[in-house]
Amino acid sequence: LFAGDCSFIKGAVKLDQLPDMAGVEIAFAGRSNVGKSSLVNGLTGRKTLAKVSNTPGRTQELNFFRIGSKLTLVDMPGYGFASAPEAKVRAWTKLVFEYLRGRPTLARVYVLIDGRHGLKTTDLPVLDMLDKAAVSYQIVLTKADKLKPGEHEERLAGVQDAIKKRPAAFPDVIFTSSEKGDGLPELKAAIARLIAE
Ligand code: GTP
Ligand code: MG
Repeated sequence: LFAGDCSFIKGAVKLDQLPDMAGVEIAFAGRSNVGKSSLVNGLTGRKTLAKVSNTPGRTQELNFFRIGSKLTLVDMPGYGFASAPEAKVRAWTKLVFEYLRGRPTLARVYVLIDGRHGLKTTDLPVLDMLDKAAVSYQIVLTKADKLKPGEHEERLAGVQDAIKKRPAAFPDVIFTSSEKGDGLPELKAAIARLIAE
């Protein structure tokens, strides 16, 4: 699935700029700088497909990438802190929320959480909205390579516990490292299962 062609289709800053719906769409959401764009690159094996930066607030549009003929990945602006004017951040957050709530071809949202920090209060409005709108989502912990050996289990257990009563949350949490590749085969398999449904 991920070995096929992949290409950038479109960047949208407004809802009326979204590309036509086709196949299965999967979106990556999360606080600024958690590693959304890096994960898109990790999954596709293309280091520069999505733009990555150390500065929070790098991705400023909904960026659509077509993978083969059946799958579209959507890299989104982050929420929470960003090195950008507050009005811009507010506009991105609104766009992200409206898109997530209203896109019929959206099969699942991957909500990325920095593995060093776990869930933050700024993550909760997104989870609440997805639960309320019954949009299926799965939590992905990022930057596994930044934790010490043995810390992963405890972080996983904590996040799993925090989401267990959330109706739209997929119970399995995946720990990933876009840098080292941990968890990427597991995540690809989860996405492949969605397409086969
Ligand atoms: P915004 O677009 O600003 O919301 O950020 P983003 O969530 O797309 O994060 P991005 O992929 O740009 O990564 C932010 C920083 O984290 C960059 O410096 C990346 O190199 C780093 N990073 C991302 N994933 C990993 C990882 O798995 N391991 C390590 N060590 N660093 C990572
Ligand atoms: Mg980004």
